[in-house]
Amino acid sequence: MGGAAVSHRVLEERPAAHGDALNLVRVAIAEAAGPEAAAQRVVDVLHDRFPAYDWIGVYWVEGDDLVLGPWTGPEATEHTRIPIGTGVCGAAAASGMTEIVPDVNADPRYLSCFASTQSEIVVPIFDGERVVGEIDVDGSDLDAFDQADARFLEEVAALLAPLRPRA
Ligand code: SME
Repeated sequence: MGGAAVSHRVLEERPAAHGDALNLVRVAIAEAAGPEAAAQRVVDVLHDRFPAYDWIGVYWVEGDDLVLGPWTGPEATEHTRIPIGTGVCGAAAASGMTEIVPDVNADPRYLSCFASTQSEIVVPIFDGERVVGEIDVDGSDLDAFDQADARFLEEVAALLAPLRPRA
């Protein structure tokens, strides 16, 4: 594992599973019939490849709200429309910053969806400087997500950006 060349550190630190999944995501997008199907394939690939990603959804910005797009997981969420600024999802959309919540029960912003959820990561999707959506992943373990997940999901977010529904 790893190597001595410091200049290659960032590349070497990306877990192989993330590189493999990014390739699968690219293929899935290229092969899908259209943007909506492509975005659905992306969440399905993530769910298949990462057991800690229990529930994965993409929310798209619509006016002042986040509206649920494609998702994969054991059950549907009641939070299909979240005002920007509300919940962990709304906070990430408002700030444009990735949110990693190691213990959802310790975060007063958390909007509860599933009894099993213990931790969450929310990664904004950008068009230039503007937040146009986000990836929300819920985990059933405490502290399920780290900075490597953040970097990985930020790369996935960049691939999702062109797939957003347009007015
Ligand atoms: N937990 C999120 C709401 C979305 S559900 O997890 C799918 C939040 O706090 O914003």
